[in-house]
Amino acid sequence: MSTPHNEAKPGDIAKTVLMPGDPLRAKFFAENFLDNIRCFNTVRNMFGYTGTYKGKEVSIMGSGMGIPSIGIYSYELFSFYDVDTIIRVGTCGCYSDEKFELLDTVLVTDAFSFSTYALEQNGFEGHITKADPEILDRLRESAKTLNYRLPEARTHSSDVFYYEENKRNGLTERMRYEYGCDIIECECFALFHNAAVTGKRAGGLMSVVDLETRDLHASAYERERGNSKMLEIALGIL
Ligand code: HPA
Repeated sequence: MSTPHNEAKPGDIAKTVLMPGDPLRAKFFAENFLDNIRCFNTVRNMFGYTGTYKGKEVSIMGSGMGIPSIGIYSYELFSFYDVDTIIRVGTCGCYSDEKFELLDTVLVTDAFSFSTYALEQNGFEGHITKADPEILDRLRESAKTLNYRLPEARTHSSDVFYYEENKRNGLTERMRYEYGCDIIECECFALFHNAAVTGKRAGGLMSVVDLETRDLHASAYERERGNSKMLEIALGIL
């Protein structure tokens, strides 16, 4: 069976899927970290690959940008492809610039959002969705084994990348001190919600690419290539 967005056949996709936002990063990660790769999806260029890491099967597929996009792809993986676990391996900006350095990897504990995705999807009225506790422990353990620092944060899953100046004023303080968010990206809220409604597991590792107040930004090249430590931590849970 395939879907309007994914041409994979049953059995083409592993039980664990890593999802960067950028499909070219999915391709780069598959080609550089996995063995025996085969591409299972090219619909809309949202590339997905299955391969092996240290002999264990895993898939890597792009999620696209934003809650609607990851909402569609992750729901299909959980519900129609029998996927158990999805780890988002993405990029983020920071509200707490002093806590992080550019290209640090951050473990997402939970996601705050003003998005109506969860409300529309099944009537969930909360603004916070959570990573799976067992996945969090496995990611912490993986980072420890690799001897990599892994700071933790609640993310603001925003629908907006380009804020008008009057909306940006005070945003950092409000998100940080009112809502407890140290980082900002655009997808984790929907991914964690989909895992909850389908009875599956999800987690998120973010690579810091924007430090707003210090005006530091990773290049497009660095965004595409991502962060190899983040990938090693994610693959370490297999
Ligand atoms: N905002 C939202 N998403 C992001 C950002 C950001 O500053 N950086 C990387 N993904």
